[in-house]
Amino acid sequence: MNIGIILAAGEGTRMKSRHPKVLHEISGKPLLSYVLDAAQNADISRNVVIVGHGKDEVVEKISGENIIFEEQPVHQGAPYGTGYAVMQGISHVADEDNVIVLCGDTPLITSTTLTELMEYHDSQNNNATVLTTELADPTGYGRIVRKDEGSLEEIVEHKDASPAQRGIKEINSGIYCFSGKELKIGLKGIDNDNSQNEYYLTDVISVLVQGGYKVGAFLIEDSTQIHGINSRVQLAQADDIIRERINTGHMENGVTLINPKDTYIEPKVRIGKDTIVYPGAVLEGETVIGEDCIIRGTTRIVDSVIGNGVSIESTLIEKSKVDDGCKIGPYAHLRPDSDLGKNVKVGNFVEIKKSTLGDNSKASHLSYVGDAEVGSGVNIGCGVVFVNYDGEKKYKSIIGDNAFIGSNSNLVAPVRVEDWGYVAAGSTITENVGEGELSIARARQVNKAGWVEKKGLKKHK
Ligand code: UD1
Ligand code: CA
Repeated sequence: MNIGIILAAGEGTRMKSRHPKVLHEISGKPLLSYVLDAAQNADISRNVVIVGHGKDEVVEKISGENIIFEEQPVHQGAPYGTGYAVMQGISHVADEDNVIVLCGDTPLITSTTLTELMEYHDSQNNNATVLTTELADPTGYGRIVRKDEGSLEEIVEHKDASPAQRGIKEINSGIYCFSGKELKIGLKGIDNDNSQNEYYLTDVISVLVQGGYKVGAFLIEDSTQIHGINSRVQLAQADDIIRERINTGHMENGVTLINPKDTYIEPKVRIGKDTIVYPGAVLEGETVIGEDCIIRGTTRIVDSVIGNGVSIESTLIEKSKVDDGCKIGPYAHLRPDSDLGKNVKVGNFVEIKKSTLGDNSKASHLSYVGDAEVGSGVNIGCGVVFVNYDGEKKYKSIIGDNAFIGSNSNLVAPVRVEDWGYVAAGSTITENVGEGELSIARARQVNKAGWVEKKGLKKHK
């Protein structure tokens, strides 16, 4: 069996955060979840996560099938180090298992690389295989020290390395494949006699080499995959790398991104062919966007489903549904549970909340539509307010097909306007409007001739 041991107990001091490092997010997803997803997609069927600092927060936020949490004590004076962390998970390991050690702060590793690492480990009959890469600037990473004939000798931490060793460009990714039996043997052989007084997992490698076991390195070219996160700067760099991967994927699938560097798309978002996304778009969560859409301006779409041929400009859409051919914005806001039919228009400064609008209906300017069921072919004039709240409770409005709500009207819910009901501009509607009726609910206009003259107002000018 393949077992993952994921190290996530460290304090992450360099993040300067109140939250555990592995819960920091890139592209809206916690670092630890990236690692777990990569492991699960590589058929690593059980994953033991070693938690310590901030463990309650980690356990609360990260859950899933076949994830086991093991606690590393982290009080003052408790033993520390990556080697000590792995010991906390070793009880789950059988001799014949392959153990893949991963770091919760190295989220960019791909499942393909993990699969290749395990295949290499097995094909070479290795007892331990270290995943390595070469970096132009290896500062901070453990260096891969090889014997003259090229085989692996040891891993030396940056802080413990001699000037000559610091010149080595090949570094330890912190990811390994061990055979269960030899991992247990190696862990028994390490101590904390080093610059940091830590039990280094890296020392397992030299223990096994000295014991005559077969140890190898699997070197990958794509060093972005082992980018470790110790600081906020590295967090932002990881976000850049992930964003490039995600956005490249969409472009390869037939989506045009006008300026991919300035387009934020979270990992689960799906976008159809020939959709064009302009810079500034933020597409989050489980959002699905159809084909032939155009998304412009600072638009943010969260957990929403958008049909085909929809055009959206500078708009916020949350947990809503928008059917084919709709035109939204600029500056509209669809709040949760809004559901727009086909070819609906929601224009400038219109807010929709928990409402359905049927096919071909329009709310083009400055309106609030809340808790409403609006039929198809309805025209909602400029400045219409659905008055849905009396300070205590929310009420519903129902508007039939082909109704016309004149500008600057208030519909005081609960209220119903039947099919073809017309509301005159400026009305405050408190009673139902029947089918085909015109309702005028405003004071009649009175014009007083000569009033200004009589008041003597003109002489002041
Ligand atoms: C480690 C490696 C280094 C490698 C680098 C790659 C060691 C000694 N060094 O260094 O060779 O180049 O990763 O990124 O292994 N952790 C625990 N418990 C502990 C200590 C750490 O769970 O007691 C966890 C941390 O939360 C982190 C991971 O182990 O997720 C790595 O620890 P970190 O302190 O970041 O190691 P590095 O100094 O980066
Ligand atoms: Ca690290």
